Amino acid sequence: MSFKELYQSKKMDADQALNLIRSGNRVVVGHACAEPSYLLDVLTEKAEQYENVEIVHMVAMGKAGYCAPGMEKHFRHNSLFVGGSTRKAVAEGRGDFTPCFFSEIPKLFKNGSLPVDAALIQTAPPDENGNLSLGISVDYTLQAAKSAKTVIVQVNPQMPVTFGGTIHISDVTAVVEHDAPLLTLEPPVIGDVELAIGANCAGLIRDGDTLQLGIGAIPDAVLRFLGDKKDLGIHSEMFSDGVVELAEAGVITNRLKKTNPGKYVASFLMGTRKLYDFVDGNPDVAMLPVDYVNNPVEVMKEDNIVSVNSCVQIDLMGQAASESVGLTQISGVGGQVDFVRGAAMAANGRSILAFPSTAAKGKISKIVPLLDEGAAVTTSRNDIDYAVTEYGIAKLKGRTLRQRALALIEIAHPDFRDGLRKVFEERFPGRRS
Ligand code: COA
Repeated sequence: MSFKELYQSKKMDADQALNLIRSGNRVVVGHACAEPSYLLDVLTEKAEQYENVEIVHMVAMGKAGYCAPGMEKHFRHNSLFVGGSTRKAVAEGRGDFTPCFFSEIPKLFKNGSLPVDAALIQTAPPDENGNLSLGISVDYTLQAAKSAKTVIVQVNPQMPVTFGGTIHISDVTAVVEHDAPLLTLEPPVIGDVELAIGANCAGLIRDGDTLQLGIGAIPDAVLRFLGDKKDLGIHSEMFSDGVVELAEAGVITNRLKKTNPGKYVASFLMGTRKLYDFVDGNPDVAMLPVDYVNNPVEVMKEDNIVSVNSCVQIDLMGQAASESVGLTQISGVGGQVDFVRGAAMAANGRSILAFPSTAAKGKISKIVPLLDEGAAVTTSRNDIDYAVTEYGIAKLKGRTLRQRALALIEIAHPDFRDGLRKVFEERFPGRRS
């Protein structure tokens, strides 16, 4: 049978394909903006026929109807990174959270820690050899498809063709064709605080550096201050529209990268159609599995890697909570520690945790004497390198607990500095500097 005939033989409608899912199955869903939204919509419409189907997902960008109130009997959400659309469900007990480094998720599927019954993924149409490109999300999605007994693919001509992650039609159980715009992430609103943070971070980035940038307003603000740099590179779990602008301006060339020279290396992408068009058929973009991209042992090979991520709270010892507010899980570790560790091991690596000095419209300081009770330490005090707010840069690596506390107080919001100094004096009696 030719690949074309094989493809045709696997085509069915979503209803038929989703009948392959059984009660009690564990179903892994394609990640972030590559989520197969149509398949998920039909799955939730068919909820009555399932009992206790576990839906494993990381950054859920769609409706997440499977964890809406009323779905408890049919679906149980297992979140690897709580996001906007799943936060309430996890907080209200309609979902669970599994702590894990992003780089290690494929291994969970592979080694039986989290065996996969079915994968629901989205790809571009097949090429002449029967390969379907995973487009904007290779990360854990490729391994989920490799490990699953049943692979249901939403084939969408609007999915860009990228290089690095494909699944062959012979490894697919069912094909559901569905032509629809991909999920997008609009560029964040960047205010004065983010701009000041961006300018401070840019001061730590040199010509020829390779960047990892997390999600959100701060990484985007950093990019705005890099217009005068030369020969920057990208090795990042994800990137967004901001990178396209710097690529078009000739600032990002990837020329001096140690591994994958000339290539933008990423594991997933979230942005607008502009980003998706930029990567479509672009041989300079390598979309690779997250157990390669985020593996600290690979990251460290980029001598001049700089990682920029954010946190919710940081204590005066330099312990950063980036994923929970007290016991309330608001996100996950994602790739933060993968890159913090990789940068620590790289010859000239630097890791930056950049964050506004306050939360809750200025009412709460993010720099605190002690983390809130129950907060998970994401980046440990042994790993922390630079902390950056709109008030400046605190270099913490190599500094004593006393020096760290002083450096952090200097970049705290002025309204909270006196209170923090009082704590400093109690903790380090007789030493004011
Ligand atoms: N105390 C109480 N609430 C706080 C808080 C604090 N110190 N800091 C943040 N919050 C609240 C915010 O008010 C907001 O609540 P709301 O949604 O009800 O308004 C919520 O927590 C999220 O904070 P926000 O500052 O809007 O988040 P963000 O979108 O800028 O993301 C992180 C910041 C830290 C959550 C995010 O960067 C993250 O998840 N990091 C960990 C993973 C990571 O770094 N991965 C690598 C890159 S993908």
